[in-house]
Amino acid sequence: MKGILLAGGHGTRLRPLTSTGNKHMIPIANEPMLFYGLRHLAAGGISDVGIVLGTVNEGITQAVGDGGAFGLRVQYIRQGEPRGLADALLCARDFLDDEPFLMYLGDNLLQSGVEPFVRRFRDARVDAVIGVTPVSHPGSYGVVEMDGERIVSIVEKPASPRSNLALVGVYLFTPSILPIVRGLRPSRRGELEITDAIWRLHEQGAPIAVQRVDGWWKDTGRPEDLLEANDLVLRTLPAERFVRAGTVADGAELHGHVGLGRGAYVGPEVRLEGPVVVGNDTRLEGRARIGPGTAVGDRCTVRDSALSRAIVMEGSEISGPVELTDSIVGRSATIRARGPGPVRLSCTLGDSTELRL
Ligand code: G1P
Repeated sequence: MKGILLAGGHGTRLRPLTSTGNKHMIPIANEPMLFYGLRHLAAGGISDVGIVLGTVNEGITQAVGDGGAFGLRVQYIRQGEPRGLADALLCARDFLDDEPFLMYLGDNLLQSGVEPFVRRFRDARVDAVIGVTPVSHPGSYGVVEMDGERIVSIVEKPASPRSNLALVGVYLFTPSILPIVRGLRPSRRGELEITDAIWRLHEQGAPIAVQRVDGWWKDTGRPEDLLEANDLVLRTLPAERFVRAGTVADGAELHGHVGLGRGAYVGPEVRLEGPVVVGNDTRLEGRARIGPGTAVGDRCTVRDSALSRAIVMEGSEISGPVELTDSIVGRSATIRARGPGPVRLSCTLGDSTELRL
């Protein structure tokens, strides 16, 4: 079985954070989002992976290379302009070479990975396995209506959803999906929808298994989703992943799961409330308060500021009496607050932005 990992598209709502790169390289718990998908594919026993690239690909090929670091053989497939998930499949057809395959949407994070889907596909001998999970706003997703185990309808972003079961971004198919995809017409949003192809496959009488997702699932299309994903990943990372390298000065308080990168420094009056990860060569100084649910990237400085439920990307500096919550700070950004404060702030700050308070 082959794997295709979709890393195209730019994500308009995340554009401020991705001015210099691809949204799939945004860090979740200090690791590019795309790496989670690659690891899940490897853990699911899939070793040949095609990464489908869009128009903005900065960082991906450099970071992933030939996939060897993930135990994978990675090839790159160009989609260019995003024209839908089914179009991505068409772009990948030479790579797929008539084998069954798993398609993973690179902006999806699943606690349970893809292994349960792969097992179901092998055991059930079906033409497709699709994943669903109940959500509170099904109209933002593909929606599957079920009667027991029977599929009643599958509709992309319906105005009046007939169930709360959203399609998650993991799909397994035999090559029988490809002729259907070739016959698709663009939807109202101008895309070739994989949801339409799955519905047609079902209408043709092909067996499709619906896999309910165990644990949490997140589509990271909006800044608030990234923050929630960051929090969920940090809360569910195994304790051994919170390695403490770096230097912790006497007097610093570290509570709960705290990971510290190489060359990181935690000053004597700093307090960390896990789960927190701090990148390499990052300095936490003065009366900095970090956590919970917070990831600070490599080569950052936080001095006298308080951060909770935040993602701070590499090379950024936050200083002075600012209380930053539910916030994402892009790469090489600066927030400087002057006393007496404190200034409470919740923001999404793009790469290289400077904010003086
Ligand atoms: C896509 C699919 C949708 C699915 C979602 C999962 O939506 O079209 O059916 O529920 O991914 O993340 P999009 O991200 O294109 O809005």
